[in-house]
Amino acid sequence: MIYHPEDITGLPFVEELCWELLSTGVNDRKNAMHQVVVSTAVGEIAHMRTVVLRRADIKEKSLYFHTDIRSSKVDDLKQNGMLSWLTYDQSLRTQIRLSGPTIIHHNDEICKEHWLKTGHHSRRYYMLNSDSNKLLSDRSTGLSPSLTAFDYTLEESEVGFEYFGVVETKVTWMEWYFTHNTGNLRASFDYESSSLIESRWLAP
Ligand SMILES: Cc1cc2nc3c(=O)[nH]c(=O)nc-3n(C[C@H](O)[C@H](O)[C@H](O)COP(=O)(O)O)c2cc1C
Repeated sequence: MIYHPEDITGLPFVEELCWELLSTGVNDRKNAMHQVVVSTAVGEIAHMRTVVLRRADIKEKSLYFHTDIRSSKVDDLKQNGMLSWLTYDQSLRTQIRLSGPTIIHHNDEICKEHWLKTGHHSRRYYMLNSDSNKLLSDRSTGLSPSLTAFDYTLEESEVGFEYFGVVETKVTWMEWYFTHNTGNLRASFDYESSSLIESRWLAP
């Protein structure tokens, strides 16, 4: 979805565009926004990592990714419930940053809904009976030969549900940054309880 500076008619256009781009990222595995960077803050250090964007709820202004509830990011989120998101599509020269309070779903209806949509192939790490930060004595994927070969049934993969988590951020801040040879543009949006409460142009 290529767009040009003259298409950018106003802040409502930009806001709608950002959510549309995020939705496209969810649905198109080849899209640059299919992978996003999420950052937790622990003390004075920001911890960033790549995750797959699994859902963008435009109405609720929520973003979702899947993770193992034994992972460090979940511990970080339990200490400080805020999460920052970063995504960039070079072909659109567009960066979107977002942040907000975060809910860790585990063993609830949202988890069941997302788990049902996960493929057989993406379940194997949840099936491991060991900590995701376990020290390994040698180079290893940590997978048994049967998990490596996807030699398990969908039914057998159900054990992984115990460790499956869905992380949801209720977006309270979003910033759009667009680079162009005629000059860059930047705007930000504040949300409260899923509603837009303020939007503004910012000096890039
Ligand atoms: C392309 C790519 C996609 C990834 N997707 C996820 C994901 O959706 N969820 C996840 O928990 N980790 C994902 N990871 C691994 C994380 O980036 C991270 O290394 C791992 O979850 C451990 O992070 P933590 O120790 O901060 O919890 C992905 C890594 C890459 C390179």
